[in-house]
Amino acid sequence: MLIDIIAGARPNFMKIAPIIHAIQKAEDSGSKLKYRLVHTGQHYDKKMSGDFFEQLNIPHPDVNLESGSGTQAEQTAKIMVRYEALLLEKPCDLTLVVGDVTSTMACSIAAKKLNIKVAHVEAGIRSFDLSMPEEINRMVTDSITDYFFTTSERANSNLKRAGVEDERIFFVGNTMIDTLLKNRSRFMRPEVWDELKLKESNYIVMTLHRPANVDEEHKLKGLIQEIVDHSQGMPLVFPIHPRTAKVFENLGITHDNLHLIEPLPYLEFNFLVERAKAVITDSGGITEETTVMGVPCMTLRDNTERPETCELGTNELLGTNPKSIGPAMAKLFSGSWKKGEIPKLWDGKTAERIIECLNKL
Ligand code: UD1
Repeated sequence: MLIDIIAGARPNFMKIAPIIHAIQKAEDSGSKLKYRLVHTGQHYDKKMSGDFFEQLNIPHPDVNLESGSGTQAEQTAKIMVRYEALLLEKPCDLTLVVGDVTSTMACSIAAKKLNIKVAHVEAGIRSFDLSMPEEINRMVTDSITDYFFTTSERANSNLKRAGVEDERIFFVGNTMIDTLLKNRSRFMRPEVWDELKLKESNYIVMTLHRPANVDEEHKLKGLIQEIVDHSQGMPLVFPIHPRTAKVFENLGITHDNLHLIEPLPYLEFNFLVERAKAVITDSGGITEETTVMGVPCMTLRDNTERPETCELGTNELLGTNPKSIGPAMAKLFSGSWKKGEIPKLWDGKTAERIIECLNKL
């Protein structure tokens, strides 16, 4: 069986790495599974893509669709047209997509319309907030998925409520955590550690890239000002996403303890996170990593598709109103942030379980 593994944007790369490694291992022991790695080219910078391939030992893609940037519809259309052309020329037996980015949805649609089965890893999670492009990507993808690989019981319930039969839902855990646990001993000290003379538990890592937080100058400025005002002078290390950088340039703000740096490669980024006093973010994936590493996490969003990171883990939803930042920072500095526990099956063996299921299909 030939499986197309689709990867398009930064958060996909840590999710596909363990799946590829598990297929390679299975091939060595006689499994008939073969894969073709398709990079859609949604993210194309070395810092957003290439570094992750190198550090996570992901093989060079067999195909790069070079779709590049654009509006949501432009990106979706380019990826669909190019992936369809590939499938018409060289079909596969199953298209495996991960996560919720535009590439995930676009490739699922192209495959399904050619009657190719679709498997979705990280299926079933929902924020119920249709103003996020990712929520639409999740809903559309899951509406045409054949095999659902899930990270949580909540995701299973969401799918069942939508009418998906039990036989098509496989609760396997979290491949992003496979990558985290496998690489934890390889985390690498980034240059910024010495440059800023950072000390363990004495700095905060920030990441912001959601359109709702960063696309409007006054919104971004308000959030950053509030974080700085309540940071007690602690270094704020801010690896800045290209989308955010474009807006930030126009804000003209500087603060002594706010340190903007380029996006970091995986091993360096997680070195910083593991040792941070806290993380302030609007990412979804980072809330899972901080939960597993036991690092306090403040999420600047009104909702989350990963409720287990709040109910079990170290994450707290602050919303997008800057005024919620002060009380949360006070709680952090008083030392009373919750400790949290690790969700079921986030144990580093998820990719193996996925391959076991695929072998049986
Ligand atoms: C995408 C995903 C989001 C994910 C995020 C992680 C969707 C809908 N969103 O958002 O779920 O959390 O990636 O990074 O798929 N750009 C570069 N270099 C690159 C890639 C992008 O400069 O390598 C620029 C683009 O030109 C664009 C901006 O960054 O202006 C946004 O990129 P885009 O892929 O549209 O969405 P993200 O905001 O990165």
